[in-house]
Amino acid sequence: MSNKIVLTGIKPTGMPHLGNYIGALKPLINYSQNHKTFMFIADLHALNTIYNPAEIREHTYQAAALMMALGVNMDNTVLFRQSDIAEIYQLNTFLMNVTPKGLMNRAHSYKAAMDKNTAAGLDTDAGVNMGLYTYPILMSADILLYNADIVPVGADQKQHVEFARDIAGHFNHIYGNLFKMPEPVIGQDTGLIPGLDGRKMSKSYDNTIPLFAPEKELKKKVMRIITDSKTPEEAKDPEESTIFQLYKHFASESEIAEFAEMFRAGGMGYGTAKTILFEKMNSVLAAPRAEYERLMANPEEIEAVLAHGAAQASTVAAETMSRVKKSVLG
Ligand code: ADP
Ligand code: TRP
Repeated sequence: MSNKIVLTGIKPTGMPHLGNYIGALKPLINYSQNHKTFMFIADLHALNTIYNPAEIREHTYQAAALMMALGVNMDNTVLFRQSDIAEIYQLNTFLMNVTPKGLMNRAHSYKAAMDKNTAAGLDTDAGVNMGLYTYPILMSADILLYNADIVPVGADQKQHVEFARDIAGHFNHIYGNLFKMPEPVIGQDTGLIPGLDGRKMSKSYDNTIPLFAPEKELKKKVMRIITDSKTPEEAKDPEESTIFQLYKHFASESEIAEFAEMFRAGGMGYGTAKTILFEKMNSVLAAPRAEYERLMANPEEIEAVLAHGAAQASTVAAETMSRVKKSVLG
C-alpha cells in the first residue's frame, strides 16, 4: 500500500465508451487497489452546461454505479458526490482571492470558447458563464481540500492540475505552507482502441461502442465493424484488423495467439471473427454490466454508498478548512 493519496473527479456526462474505459477508467481502478483514493462525481463541474436537475442526478448515478460495477476497491476508496461536501464551496471562495485573473484567461477551455466565438463572428465572451471561466479554481479546491498527492487525469485536464499547483503556491506564499503540491499523472491518449471504422474510437467520430451497451446493441455494433474485402479463404494479417485489435483487450494471452493464428491461416471469414469477438467481449462485460444495471435499478443503494463516502470525505474537508480559516481569518 502506497502512502500517497490519489484523487480524481469524474464529470457526470453519460456512458463512456470502450476507449475511455481502457484508456482512462481502468488505470483509475488500478490505483484504487493499492492507494488511498478519493473519487468523486464532479456534479458541480457539470453545472455550467447542464441546467436540468434530473439529468444531473441520472448522470451522477450512472458515473457512481459504473465505478462500483467496474471493481473500484471500495476498501481503499472514498466515493462521493462533489456537491455533498459543504467545505468545497468555502475553499473555492478562499482560493478565488489569491488566483490571478490572468491565469483564468490562459485556461485552454476558456480560450477554446473564445476562439470559437471569434471564428463565428460573435462577441469573444458570448455564451461564456463564470462557471466555465472559474472552472479551474473549483477544480483546484477539489484537489487541495483532500490533500491529494497524485491526480490522474486525461491530457486535456493537465493544465488544470498545474493551475492547482500555481494556486496552492500563491496561497502558501501568503499564508505559510498549508497545501501539498499535487502531481498530475497524465494518461496519454494513445488512441489505442480503434472504433468501428478503424480510426481511434472517439465521440467525435461517432464510431464508439458504449461500455455497457445492452447485449443486443453490443452485437449489432460489433457486426458493423468495417473490414476489408478479403474472402473467408484468404489469409489475413491480424494486426491490420480492428476485430483483432479489440479482441486483444479482452482475451488471455493464449486466446490472443490462437485467434491471430486463425487470421493468418485463412479459412475464417470476418463474420465468424466478429462473432468470436462479440462472445469474448460479452463474456467479460456481462457480469459488470449486470451489476451496473442492478445498481441503476436500485438508486437508494448508490445513494447509501455516496452518503457513506460523503461522511468520510467531510472529516478530511473539515480538517483542511479549519486550518485554512485559521490562517486566513486569524
Ligand atoms: P473522446 O475522444 O471520445 O471525446 P475523451 O477525449 O473524452 O474521448 O477521452 C477521455 C479519456 O479516455 C482520454 O484521456 C483517454 O485516456 C481515453 N480514451 C479516449 N479514447 C480512447 C481510445 N480510442 N483509446 C484509448 N484511450 C482512449
Ligand atoms: N475537470 C475534470 C473533467 O472535466 C473533472 C474533475 C473535477 C477533476 N475536479 C477534479 C479531475 C479534480 C481531477 C481532479 O474531467
